[in-house]
Amino acid sequence: MHQKEDEEVPLNDDVYHAGSDSDDFNDKYDYAAAKRPRRGWRSCLGMTVSLLAIILVSGLTGAWISFAFLNMDQNCALHTTQWYVDIKYAFKEFDGHFMEENIYRKNASAEVDAAWEALGVDYRAGVISYEDGLASGLDSSFVQRNPKYGGGFLVNVEGLHHLHCLNLVRKSLYFNYDHYKAIGTHAFMNEGHAFQLHVTHCLDTIRQVLMCNVDTAVLGQVWATKEDPMAFPDFNTRHMCKNYDAVREWGEKLQAPPNDELPPDFLVIPTPEQIIPKIP
Ligand SMILES: *[C@@H]1O[C@H](CO)[C@@H](O)[C@H](O)[C@H]1NC(C)=O
Repeated sequence: MHQKEDEEVPLNDDVYHAGSDSDDFNDKYDYAAAKRPRRGWRSCLGMTVSLLAIILVSGLTGAWISFAFLNMDQNCALHTTQWYVDIKYAFKEFDGHFMEENIYRKNASAEVDAAWEALGVDYRAGVISYEDGLASGLDSSFVQRNPKYGGGFLVNVEGLHHLHCLNLVRKSLYFNYDHYKAIGTHAFMNEGHAFQLHVTHCLDTIRQVLMCNVDTAVLGQVWATKEDPMAFPDFNTRHMCKNYDAVREWGEKLQAPPNDELPPDFLVIPTPEQIIPKIP
């Protein structure tokens, strides 16, 4: 009780003096104000921590976004294919001329064949490492090179196979067929239905590639010919393209030696359950 009274006295004293003595009021005011920084110190620390957290999170987000943009080419390539070489995108003008024939579409000849072959359309199967094969969607049941010769999977580069297919369709066109039948190599060694299956397999592969990568760009029309102006689609368009040549070079380097140079134990012998009943 006595202590409580002691406490009450100064409090009453404060109240009493606050209104009557401005110096004393200022003392009390100063006293109260002096307390504030102590309360503020804690909230200031809280605010600093929050602020640092915000800076850190936005910094990391910014870094992540800029990283994604800096590696746009790689990110695009990785998002759209199972495995990728060092992909760079660059603008390329399509040769869409209607009347002028470039080397890839001229009448069948050794020169035209050489132009297509330079694209890597006839490269042999190559070998990639076991790990790269797994990352590309293969599993241990796929054909492998004997560990004795370095192991890994036997593979063909998809894009090169697609062009190989387009080349076969080209050779099979009614106005080219006789030329290539006379040469009689590769697909043209087969007759009738077997040949037809090869060509339609190729045609349908190309259909699926085109649908998979469907281009949503548009073709504009131009006014053509002075003497008789007509609206004609302009197929000479600009496209953002992958560096095809780097992919071709990769496929070229991957190639295993020609079949007749391979040792008889080049491939890992499959177990019976690894052999599928018919041609897929
Ligand atoms: C290409 O072949 C066609 C016949 O299929 C022929 O009319 C044309 O003259 C040939 N072009 C050249 C440049 O040889």
